[in-house]
Amino acid sequence: RAVLSVASECAPLVKTGGLADVAGALPAAMAGQGWRMRTLIPGYPSVMAQLDNASVHWEAAELFGGPARLWGGRVAGLDLIVLDAPHLYDRDGSIYLSTQGADWPDNPERFAALCWVAAMIARDGLLDWRPELVHCHDWQAALTPTYLKSQGTAVPSLLTIHNVAFHGLAGPDRLFALRLPADRFNPDGFEFYGQISALKAGLMDADAISTVSPTYARELMTPDFGMGLDGVLRMRAGDLHGILNGIDLDIWSPATDPAIAQFSTPRGKARARAGLLAEFGIEDGGGPLAIVVSRLTGQKGLDLLLEAAPRFLAQGGSLAVLGSGERWLEDRFRLLAEREPRVGTRIGYDEPLSHRMFAGADAVLVPSRFEPCGLTQMYGLRYGAVPLVARTGGLADTVIDANEAALRAGVATGIVVTPGDPGALAQGLERLCTLHADPVAWSRIQRNAMRHPVGWEDSAARYAQLYAALAG
Ligand code: ADP
Ligand code: GLC
Repeated sequence: RAVLSVASECAPLVKTGGLADVAGALPAAMAGQGWRMRTLIPGYPSVMAQLDNASVHWEAAELFGGPARLWGGRVAGLDLIVLDAPHLYDRDGSIYLSTQGADWPDNPERFAALCWVAAMIARDGLLDWRPELVHCHDWQAALTPTYLKSQGTAVPSLLTIHNVAFHGLAGPDRLFALRLPADRFNPDGFEFYGQISALKAGLMDADAISTVSPTYARELMTPDFGMGLDGVLRMRAGDLHGILNGIDLDIWSPATDPAIAQFSTPRGKARARAGLLAEFGIEDGGGPLAIVVSRLTGQKGLDLLLEAAPRFLAQGGSLAVLGSGERWLEDRFRLLAEREPRVGTRIGYDEPLSHRMFAGADAVLVPSRFEPCGLTQMYGLRYGAVPLVARTGGLADTVIDANEAALRAGVATGIVVTPGDPGALAQGLERLCTLHADPVAWSRIQRNAMRHPVGWEDSAARYAQLYAALAG
C-alpha cells in the first residue's frame, strides 16, 4: 500500500524540532504495517547536498514564480521526493527564517508550492507510483487537502497537527498567488479573522485530522489551547484522533547508542553521570543531576525553571541546560551558570551532546506550558533520566506521577506537576530530591521508566487503522 507524507522538515536531513523526528521515523514504522511511505520535502541547500543517487522524476518551467524539479531517491533509509525550486528554497538563513531572524516574507508561497506539488502527485502519480492517501504535517503541508478538493481529486488526506500555534497566515491579497479558490475565503472556508490561514484550510478540508497525543487532542478543542481554532476542531471532533508519537529506538537506545559509552546498568549510568558533570564543569551537589534539552521559547516554560532553580540548587540539585532560542532566555541561563557552580549552560544545537546528557542525567525537566507530545521526556524514560514534566499534552500521556498510590503499586515513572506555576515546579523538584535520596524508591522508578514502552509500534498500528479507514 502506498502513502505520500508531506513535511517541511525530516530527520536526519533537516530539523528544527520534533516534527522532523516524527516525519523521519514514520516511514520505517509504517513499513512494519505494510505501508510504503514516500516523503515529499523542500529542496533546501542542506537537503540538496545530501542527495546522491537521485534522479529527476518531473520538471516544470514555472512553479510559484520559477522553475522546479522533483528528485526521487533514497537517503538515510528514507524514500524521498525532493522539491528542488531554487527561487523558493535555495537561500542562507534557517528554513523558516532569514538571517535577520524574521519569517521569510514569501513563506506562504514557499509552502503552498510544496502542497501544490503534493496534490499533483496524488492526482497524476509520479512516474509509475501513486499514493492511495496523503498524510500532511502542520501548516506547511496543510493546503494540500484544499488543492485536492479544488482539483476534484478523490485521494483522501490526513492532516496531523504537531503544533497549533503556527497557522501559516497570509493577507487576502495573496489569494490568487496562492492559487486558492476565492469563493472559500470566508469563515466556513480558510478565512481566519480577515487572513488566509493555511492550517485552517487543512482542518476544514482534510478527510481526517490527527494530533500527537490523546490529551492534546482534547486540549485543542478548548479556548485555552486551540489558539483560535478550537471551534473548528470542536466541529470536527468526530474526525480528530490523538495518536501518541514514538521515538526511534535505533537512535535512542542506551545499550547500542554510539554517541555514549553504552550502558544498561546502574554502574554505567554512574560513569556517564560523572562524565557529564565534568563535560559541563559543574559541581555535584549530592542531589539529582537534572538536564534540559530544548528550544528556549515560551512554550517550554523554562522561565518558570529559572524561578524554581534556587530552591532546587539549595536542596543539592545540579542542572545542565542545552538549548537555543529566545535571546533573553539564553542570556538568563548563561548568567545562572556563571553565578552557580552547580549549573552549566550550552547555547546551541548539539545532538551528540544531547545523547551524553540523557545518558548521564538523573532527571530531565520538561515544564512546558503546552506540549502537543514532547520527545525528550521519552528519551529520559528510555535512558533512566527520570522525567519531571508539566501535566499537559503528551507529557501527561507518557509519564506516571510518583504519587502515593503509584509508588505503592510500583508503577511510577516520573514526576508530574501543574503547568505554568513556578511554585508547583519548585515543589515537584523538591519531590524529585526526596525520591532521589531514597535509593530503593529511586532505582524502582528508574527501572519502571526504562521499561515504559516508547517505541512506535502501538502508534504505527493506530495510524495504519486510520489509513485503512480513509483509503478503503
Ligand atoms: P519541539 O518539537 O516542540 O521542539 P520535541 O520534544 O517534540 O519539541 O522535539 C524536540 C527535538 O529537538 C528533540 O529531538 C530534542 O532532543 C531536540 N533538541 C531540541 N533542542 C536541542 C538542542 N539544543 N540540541 C540538540 N537537540 C535538541
Ligand atoms: C511539535 C510539538 C512537540 C511534538 C513535535 C512532534 O514541535 O511542539 O510537542 O513532540 O511537534 O510531534
